[in-house]
Parts: sequence; C-alpha cells; structure tokens
Amino acid sequence: MEPRRVLLVVSGGIAAYKIPELVRRLKRTGHAVRCVVTASAREFVSPLTLQTVSAEPVRESLFDRAEEGQIDHIALADWAEAVVVAPATANLLAKLAAGIADDLATTVLLATRAPLLVAPAMNVNMWSHPATRANVATLHERGVEIVGPEAGELACGWEGEGRMAEPEAIAGALELRLGRPSLAGERVVVSAGGTREPVDAVRVLANRSSGKMGFAIAAEAARRGAETILVAAPSALPTPPGVRRIDIETALEMRDAVHAEARSAGVVVMAAAVADFRPASAHARKLKKEDLPEGEGLTLELVRNPDILAELCREPGERVVVGFAAESHDVVEAARRKLARKGCDLIVANDVSREDAGFESDANAVVLVSPGGEAEALPLLPKSEVARRLLDRIEKLRGARS
Ligand code: CTP
Repeated sequence: MEPRRVLLVVSGGIAAYKIPELVRRLKRTGHAVRCVVTASAREFVSPLTLQTVSAEPVRESLFDRAEEGQIDHIALADWAEAVVVAPATANLLAKLAAGIADDLATTVLLATRAPLLVAPAMNVNMWSHPATRANVATLHERGVEIVGPEAGELACGWEGEGRMAEPEAIAGALELRLGRPSLAGERVVVSAGGTREPVDAVRVLANRSSGKMGFAIAAEAARRGAETILVAAPSALPTPPGVRRIDIETALEMRDAVHAEARSAGVVVMAAAVADFRPASAHARKLKKEDLPEGEGLTLELVRNPDILAELCREPGERVVVGFAAESHDVVEAARRKLARKGCDLIVANDVSREDAGFESDANAVVLVSPGGEAEALPLLPKSEVARRLLDRIEKLRGARS
C-alpha cells in the first residue's frame, strides 16, 4: 500500500512502552510517523526513544515556541493522513468524546480531519464503567475505529478486558482503514440475527442466533467502502460505523426490508437465522394459563415463512447472493444440496454441533461451498476474519460478473 503520513498520539498508560514497536512496524511499511506525547505518556515512554525510531521530532507541548516554530499544532493536524491514539486512556477517550482540547494531543485530535483509530488500554473496571462505555459508543458512532482492548492479565493486577491491542493488530487495522476502498460504489445488503415470531402479546418463537456474524460482515463491507445496509433482527450489538441499520422483528418484516433494499444492490448476504415457521395467528392478548385446564397441552399451529434467500436467487440479474447454512452433520453435503435447491452463488456452511464456534461465539469455523461443488474449509477464526475472507471471495465473484 501507498506510504502515508501517520500521526501517533501517545497517552499515559503502561502500554505506552509498546509504542516504539508500533512506530517501527509503521515505518517498515513505508509510512512517515510523527508522535505527540501527553505529559503522562512521558512517564511511560521516553520522547527520545520515539524520536529515534520515528526519525522525526516528537511534539510534547502546545506552548513550546521552538516546537511550534517547526510545525504548529494545526499544521500537524493537517499533515496527518491518519491519526492513531495508542494507548488511549479512559481520560483521553472522555476528552475526545466531549471535544475537550486542553493540551497539545487533544487539540490536534479536535483539529484534524484525518480518519481516527484508537487503541484503548486501561483497568477492566475503568473500561466497563458506564461513562467509558458511553464515550466509546459516541466515538464509534462518529466513525472512530476502536481497536481492542484485549482480555487478559492487566498490569494493575486485575484480569479482564483492558489490555491494549498488540502493535501488530493496530498496524493491521490501520492498513485496512487506509487501503483503497475495494467496494466503493457497491451496495451491499446484509441480514443478521434471529427473527422473532410472536405467539401472543408477550411471547415469541426465537432462535439462538446472536447476529455477530452478520454484523461483522456489514462492518467489513462498510470498511471496504460499500454503501452497506444491515437488516437486523433484535440485537443489542452496536451498529458498525458507516452502516445503515434497519431493525425488524419477524421473518415477514425481514423479507419486506431485504427485498426493498436489495433492488439496486450488487451483493446480498443472508446471514440471518430466519424462522422457517411462524404461529398461524398471534394472539393479540397474553395467553393466560387459567384459560387452559391443568394437564392439557396447548397446540400452536405453525405455518411456513417464505424463503427470502430462495426468492432473491430466483430474481434475474448480476447480483451476487450468498446464503448461510446451519448444519449439525454432513455439513458440506447438506450445504451443497441447499445451494442447489435455492440457487445461490455461495453458501457459508456452519457446523453448529461444534462447541467452540457458531451462535453466541466470537469465532466461527465455516466452509465456503460454491455452485461447482468446491468446498473451501476455513480454520476456526474470529468472526471479523471470517467476514474478511468471505468478502474477498464475494469481490472475486462480483469482479467476474461485471
Ligand atoms: N433463509 C431465508 N428465509 C427463510 C429461511 C432461511 O432467507 N425463511 C436463509 C437464511 O438467511 C440462510 C439460509 O436461508 O442464509 C438458510 O437456509 P435454511 O434452509 O433455513 O437452512 P437452515 O437454517 O440451515 O435449516 P434447514 O437445514 O432446516 O433447512
């Protein structure tokens, strides 16, 4: 990738000792790197070290006339083609969310128009504090990319989420962010989560899908520059940056939303677990057990829902349509049959009998099954990585068509 001008803002956490390694990685890729350190960061990493590895002067203070004379803080903010904050302390995240500019680092962060990536690092209780959660959500909504933190043993003695992502992961996230948007101009529709079919005023028929896989695919499509629409069944997951989200509940609502959005889409990925059946009629009021004699059963009549994926595949056009298959045995064979039956361009088959993958998990082990019958088994990977590989494949299919 092209060499870029990267501004690295270092705030005061113990993980600052890893930043020289991050600078070296970025330099090795050919980027120019300039560092700004906060007053507390200087307690953890020496400006001289950063200056030596970056081969650029390190900026420390807003009011240092010599520093400002070389490159003033606004020029520095304008110079940056990307800004990375690592480690990002709870305090720095709070200031960034509130727009406070009371030192050089926060002033440059407020002035820059470059894409921003932050790598939080703090004590697990600080990270899970509602104030930090709200600040992170605000930044996320503004399109700030949050890398990590990771779970593990923390320097403060606690265990849990709070460790800064490794320099390799931060550099990788930056490369992706700065890469050429390979899906620019493309419209991608992704469905996610498990639909809910009402039984009565309070009860629903649901399934175990968490929506994580579909959300990861939408996040990756948006990162690649696609106009991305996520049709989401009920989920507490945050909307990925740059994604337009349409919340639905039932299979019929999902069908309407997907068809409406898919009209001008080049890619549709049906990652949702759509209920195959719904109660024939939902009771408007809550069913009361007093109304049923004790010992007697309650029979629910179910009717088939339309198969959205099959409907999409029947529509003519150049669109790439991808389906998912949740299988508990004979995974590849079952997926091949499903693909042939529905007529899609690719099936992502999940082995739902595995304990370490699938439904609520953050990892997934899938097999990509093509119409020719070829099956590519991917190893157990984080869902974000599965999303990347799936979109690489989808891009090839799209490229072959257009
Ligand atoms: N799907 C759909 N509409 C439905 C049901 C499923 O669009 N009413 C889509 C899902 O989003 C997924 C794929 O079809 O992409 C799954 O197909 P399905 O036949 O439901 O497979 P399973 O859920 O694996 O169930 P089964 O094996 O029982 O057929």
